[in-house]
Amino acid sequence: MAFSSSSYPEELTFPEGFGWGASTAAYQVEGGWDADGKGPNVWDTFTHQGGDRVFRNQTADVACGSYTLWEEDLKCIKQLGLTHYRFSLSWSRLLPDGTTGFINQKGNCFLKIEGIDYYNKMINDLLANGVIPVVVLYHFDLPQHLEDQGGWKTEAIVEVFDAYAQFCFGTFGDRVKLWITINEPNTLALCAYELGKFAPGVPNPGTGAYQAAHNIIRAHAKAWHSYDSLFRKKQNGQVSIALFSPWIEPANPTSLADQKAAKRVMALALDLFAKPIFIDGDYPTVLKSWVAAISKKQGYPSSRLPEFTEEEKRMIKGSADFFAVQYYTTRLAKHHENSEEELKSLLKDIGTDLLPDPSWPCSQASSWIYVVPWGIRKLLKYIKDTYNNPVIYITENGFPQGDPAPLDDTQRWEYFRQTIQELYKAIHLDKVNLQLYCVWSLLDNFEWIEGFSSRFGLYHIDFENPTLPRVPYKSAMEYAKIIQNNGIKGPL
Ligand code: NOJ
Repeated sequence: MAFSSSSYPEELTFPEGFGWGASTAAYQVEGGWDADGKGPNVWDTFTHQGGDRVFRNQTADVACGSYTLWEEDLKCIKQLGLTHYRFSLSWSRLLPDGTTGFINQKGNCFLKIEGIDYYNKMINDLLANGVIPVVVLYHFDLPQHLEDQGGWKTEAIVEVFDAYAQFCFGTFGDRVKLWITINEPNTLALCAYELGKFAPGVPNPGTGAYQAAHNIIRAHAKAWHSYDSLFRKKQNGQVSIALFSPWIEPANPTSLADQKAAKRVMALALDLFAKPIFIDGDYPTVLKSWVAAISKKQGYPSSRLPEFTEEEKRMIKGSADFFAVQYYTTRLAKHHENSEEELKSLLKDIGTDLLPDPSWPCSQASSWIYVVPWGIRKLLKYIKDTYNNPVIYITENGFPQGDPAPLDDTQRWEYFRQTIQELYKAIHLDKVNLQLYCVWSLLDNFEWIEGFSSRFGLYHIDFENPTLPRVPYKSAMEYAKIIQNNGIKGPL
C-alpha cells in the first residue's frame, strides 16, 4: 500500500462487497403505538406518564409514521442505494403481551397477523430491491407486561426472550440472514435499570445495571443457541448482539493510573459484554475484582456483579457469529479515588472521571457526543486485537443536528467523511476485517429522552406536518455518492 496514515490517495475505494447501510429502531420511527392490537411497551408507558423526563414530554405515538409510511421509507432507502437496512421489530406489535403463549391460545389471532404482515412486507420489499435486511429483535421497547413481571432484572426473561426469538427466526428467518438479538445492552442496562433515565424509569444505583446485564447476556446466548441448533442448518444466517462502545484514551498518556483507568472504562463499556460472548464466558477480571472489593467495603454479602455458573459460561462463550459495534464518541479517562459516599453506582465503581478534550467539537443537539472520528479507528483496532480479528459490522454511527436542522448540513457531512476515511485506514492500514457500515439514522426520529430535538437522520422530517415528508439532507446525497462509488472519489 503506497500511503501512510498521514497521506492517502484521493480515491478511497473500499473492498468489493463492502456493505453501506442505515439504521432505525421500531419505537423511534414506527408510530402506530396502539394500531391493530399492538400491545403497550415500556416506552409507551413511560412517555404517556409525562413528568418532564422526556424533552417537552414528547412521545413516539406517531413519530415518523413508518408503520403506515413504509413505502416512503423504502423510497429513501432506494434513493441512497443502501446495500443493507438495519431495523428492529416491535416485540409487542408481534406478541402484544410479549409471550408466545398469548398467540398460541388465540390460534391465528388477527393481532398477530397484522404485525407479521407489516414486517413481512418490509423484508420482502427490501429483498426485491436488492437490500439486505439486518433485523434487531429488541431495541429498548420491552412489552409492558414483561416489565410488570420484573423485566430484565429477573432471570425469567431469559426463557421469554428465547421464545420470542424462536418465533421471529421461524417467521422471518427464511428471508432474514443477519440477526441482532439485543441492541446496546450496555446503554439499556445503565440508562434504564441503573440510572432510571430511560423506561421503565426506576433507578437502582449500584445493582440494577449488573443484574440487567447478567440476564441480557444469558438471554442473548440462549437465543443464539436456539438459532444454532434449530434454524441455522436450514436458514444459514448469522446472529450477534450490537454493542455500543466509546473509545477511551488515558487523560495523561504517561500516567500509569490513567492508563489503568482507561482500561477499566473499556472493560465496563465494551468488555463486560464482549469478553463473555467472544472469549471465555466470563466477565473481565479487572471488573470482577474491583466490584467485589468495593461491594465488600460497602457491606454487601457478595459482589454486586453477579457470577455466571460454569454451565452458563460454556453456553455464553462463542455465542456470536460477527462483531456488531456502535460508535459515537470518545473520552479521556482520569483516575479518580472515590470517596465512600460516592460509591453506590456502577459509574463510580470504575474510579474514573471521563472528560472530553477541549479541542473536540461538541454536538449541541446531544451533548454527550463529542465528535472524534479517529476514535472509531482505534476502537476497531482494539476489537481486532482483543477479540481475535472478528468480522466487524458497524451497525450504528452518526452525528445529530439540533432543531431546526438545516438541509445543507455541510459540517455534519464533513464528520461523516472523516469517519469514512478512518474506516478506510482501519481496513487498509490496520487490516481490520470491517465489512459493513451503517449510518444512524435513515430518518430524523424520536431520540429517547431528547425527543425530536436531536436529529440524526439522513432524511429530514417535519414532525409538525401530518404527512411527515422525508426530505434528504445534503449528507444523504453525499452518502449516496459514497455508496455508488464504494468509497470516496475525488479530492479530499
Ligand atoms: C444508540 C441507540 O441504539 C439509538 O436508539 C440512538 O438513537 C442512537 N444511539 C443515538 O443516540
